[in-house]
Amino acid sequence: MTRLDVLPAATWADWVAADLAARLRAEPDLRLCLPTGDTPSPVYERLAAADGVAGDGALFGRATIVLLDEYLGLAPDDPARCDARLRRELLDRLDPPPAAFHAIDVDGLDPAEAARRHDAVAARGLDLTLLGLGMNGHVGLNEPGARPDDPTRVVDVAASSREVAVERYGAGRAPTGGITLGIARLLESREIWLLVTGERKAGILRRVLEAREGSAATADSTALPPAAFLLGHPNLRIVADEDAAHAG
Ligand code: PGA
Repeated sequence: MTRLDVLPAATWADWVAADLAARLRAEPDLRLCLPTGDTPSPVYERLAAADGVAGDGALFGRATIVLLDEYLGLAPDDPARCDARLRRELLDRLDPPPAAFHAIDVDGLDPAEAARRHDAVAARGLDLTLLGLGMNGHVGLNEPGARPDDPTRVVDVAASSREVAVERYGAGRAPTGGITLGIARLLESREIWLLVTGERKAGILRRVLEAREGSAATADSTALPPAAFLLGHPNLRIVADEDAAHAG
């Protein structure tokens, strides 16, 4: 079942952060898959503040964090690296830190082996997976052309996503590829929250929601935005702000 929550842009991040914090209090051993990007950043900002400043403390102390995806070809300290960004925006600001953080070992391993090992971590189970929605409909680095049964793997990063890495995320160079949890693994997560904000995401969100009207079953699946494959998940929440849900 898909649930669509539409929230005012001004309070969207507060709401998502509060909901995630409530979940962590109820289920402290949560195994969480987390994305990076401009969409989840304000949520992480609020969670870090709630953990440290508001004295909630130990919110993530028993949680396990599994990184959603990672670029290839970027230096370990590149600001756009997904592991570095998640550490900077959330993990390094938590006290105590999460019980475990599983980054994708793109520095030490051959990429195919790094993908295989990361997949094995995710295969132990994900309780809750947060995802952003790419302008081209990607989730993680499952770019257009992806299929619902795609495994965790080494991928080509779409030209538009390489541009985002450099121009919006500040990468020192364009990534040469990526590693992403595959759609098949994401669909195994007990619950998924697809986070969508801003007017610029309105068109792609509409395309994803239109796929719900049944075309997903009949159309050439590789023509669908990859996020549309999530609609088959039994416990999907799309959490959009009003700008993404109503613009256009
Ligand atoms: P954004 O990217 O959150 O930076 O807009 C989302 C994505 O491309 O997955």
